[in-house]
Amino acid sequence: MPPPLTAPAELFTRRLHLRRPTSRDAEAIFAYASDHEVTRYMAWPRHLSLDDTRAFLAHADEEWRQRGAGVYLASSADGEIIGSTGLHLLAPHRALTGYLLVPRVWGQGLATELAQAMVGLARAQGLVRLEADCVAEHAASARVLEKAGFAFEGRRRAFLLAPNLPGNAPVDVRSYAVVLR
Ligand SMILES: CC(C)(COP(=O)(O)OP(=O)(O)OC[C@H]1O[C@@H](n2cnc3c(N)ncnc32)[C@H](O)[C@@H]1OP(=O)(O)O)[C@@H](O)C(=O)NCCC(=O)NCCS
Repeated sequence: MPPPLTAPAELFTRRLHLRRPTSRDAEAIFAYASDHEVTRYMAWPRHLSLDDTRAFLAHADEEWRQRGAGVYLASSADGEIIGSTGLHLLAPHRALTGYLLVPRVWGQGLATELAQAMVGLARAQGLVRLEADCVAEHAASARVLEKAGFAFEGRRRAFLLAPNLPGNAPVDVRSYAVVLR
């Protein structure tokens, strides 16, 4: 059976080149996925070795093959990988997105550009709803979602065991979505 989505393997935004990852990207991904500052609020544990990154890449490849969309790596004009985003199918009509960037490019509107690109892609793929969550205290990420046109839908209390935050207490999450019809 063909995958439900047919997202392109590469996309261009105003300043960024987005493409499906390959196994050759492991070291570049490990560089940011092992970084404390980048991963602080992520829902996945920071990578401790290249094996973690290879497992992530295998999972990402499987998602692309089964769903026809998934993780995109983002490169700047000089070709350097500076972050990632993605379109993750949750149900036939809705998907989840997220984004991360290396610290040296923060504050230039690039995360907003990534989120807007995923909204455009979700619409082009015929999806009706695109969702995104962020840890409640992560104000910069909430701001990105608002700038990209997502609406706040509610606060899920004690929802996430954020693996890279100190302590082991579940944290609140802010849920956002954009409806595309
Ligand atoms: C969060 C992150 C994606 C933001 O990327 P970015 O490219 O700097 O975001 P943008 O420039 O598009 O927009 C950031 C907005 O947040 C605002 N902001 C930044 N820090 C803030 C803070 N501490 N409190 C409130 N707002 C803040 C900025 O002023 C900007 O809003 P503005 O344009 O109205 O001034 C980036 O810091 C990152 O990749 N962090 C690590 C990974 C991560 O946490 N990803 C999100 C997981 S939910």
